[in-house]
Amino acid sequence: MTDLLTPVMSANWADDRAWKLTNYERRDGYKALRKALTMSPGDVMGVVKDSQLRGRGGAGFPTGMKWSFVPKDNPNPKYLVVNADESEPGTCKDMPLMMASPHTLVEGVVISSYAIGVHTAFIYVRGEVLHVIRRVQQAVREAYSAGYAGKNILGTGFDLEIIVHAGAGAYICGEETALLDSLEGRRGQPRLRPPFPAVAGLYASPTVINNVESISSVPAIVLNGATWFASMGTERSKGYTLYSLSGHVRNPGQFEAPMGVTLHQLLELAGGMREGHQLKFFTPGGSSTPILTSEHVDLPLDYESMAAAGSMLGTKALQCFDETTSVVRTTLRWIEFYNHESCGKCTPCREGNWWLVQMLQKFEAGTAQEGDIEKMLDVCENIGGRSFCALADGGVACVTSAVKHFREEFEAGYHTPAWELFPYEKSALFATPPSTDEPRTAVEAHA
Ligand SMILES: Cc1cc2nc3c(=O)[nH]c(=O)nc-3n(C[C@H](O)[C@H](O)[C@H](O)COP(=O)(O)O)c2cc1C
Ligand code: SF4
Repeated sequence: MTDLLTPVMSANWADDRAWKLTNYERRDGYKALRKALTMSPGDVMGVVKDSQLRGRGGAGFPTGMKWSFVPKDNPNPKYLVVNADESEPGTCKDMPLMMASPHTLVEGVVISSYAIGVHTAFIYVRGEVLHVIRRVQQAVREAYSAGYAGKNILGTGFDLEIIVHAGAGAYICGEETALLDSLEGRRGQPRLRPPFPAVAGLYASPTVINNVESISSVPAIVLNGATWFASMGTERSKGYTLYSLSGHVRNPGQFEAPMGVTLHQLLELAGGMREGHQLKFFTPGGSSTPILTSEHVDLPLDYESMAAAGSMLGTKALQCFDETTSVVRTTLRWIEFYNHESCGKCTPCREGNWWLVQMLQKFEAGTAQEGDIEKMLDVCENIGGRSFCALADGGVACVTSAVKHFREEFEAGYHTPAWELFPYEKSALFATPPSTDEPRTAVEAHA
């Protein structure tokens, strides 16, 4: 443990069977709920507001403020929906959190529901992660048996039903309004806003949608106070958070540290880049956030500094790539993902991502032609800001930031295949390189 780390949500992850209720309670688990239930719902909301916690799902919207948008006079039931879809390439914090300590989330759900005036809460988990779903379901069952959920919680008269819902596995179902459609049993596609979910969300009722980490931050805030939380972090990005390091890093994993820590510091904790290699580029917060380079390792990883550097903090998923990696190939892989996951609702995203894949394949194969970079950027301009949801903007960010920082690699695509400049076997960590007979891309595989 170093002074830099602030393990709060992750403090118990290495405990023996940390996911069991008894072990969670041994670590003061559900003490925050007991405290919250002695306060008025408004006061609990006030603590979360004062802590200045910002949503950890990507956009960084203030959590307490979002809760306060729920109209008090609306006669419909109010809902809390936890977004546990976590499908963004590189993003991998919510699943470990739910696996290691599902009760942190469940306790957060009960406290948050109490504060907002919710009596039915949903945890929407991506369908592929069956082991996570089972663990959260078991934690919810334990919470019911112990009187922390269900009717008359801890004898206070507060009722809360918690429903764990398994999605079918689609990146777009992480977009909050597509998630609501999916939860209602429809095809998951984003909704037009307004109305915003806080006013008309699930079943047209007021609904708060929050990320797993946002809700899991609530118990410690209630227990230790808003001032304690706000004393960590930077001026406008308060508290601590889970930073996920992956890629060519010696010891990848989750690092819970104050907002504003630098990648340089995190890499030191992770043992640096793999032996004999240097950082070339990284995503600050998943593939949707514009890439940054080794020049940016000393910038504070907070919302403001990342925006000033032309990127976003996103989900704090720091995918780190060393000098053996082809930027063109990485960009192609990401765009193949966005193309596959586009829900098809709007033309620029549906068609544009398909075209980007075709163009990037040429850059990868060394068969692009002079002017293709400009053409590709023009396609990007016709997607970004002209589509319905942020999935399209995320894909565009991959391409434009890659060209901005590594234009020469795209220019090399006019004559030399990326696999000659950056052989697979040098950058691959786990997989054996594909034989030349095998399709190199998902699109070829489907051709
Ligand atoms: C394509 C797409 C996928 C998203 N996936 C997730 C996700 O898996 N988990 C998540 O919490 N937010 C995701 N978001 C952001 C949500 O729409 C929403 O902003 C978030 O759940 C709000 O929670 P927060 O305020 O606690 O951050 C996604 C957004 C888009 C556009
Ligand atoms: S931008 Fe893409 S993912 Fe989003 S609604 Fe349009 S087609 Fe669907």
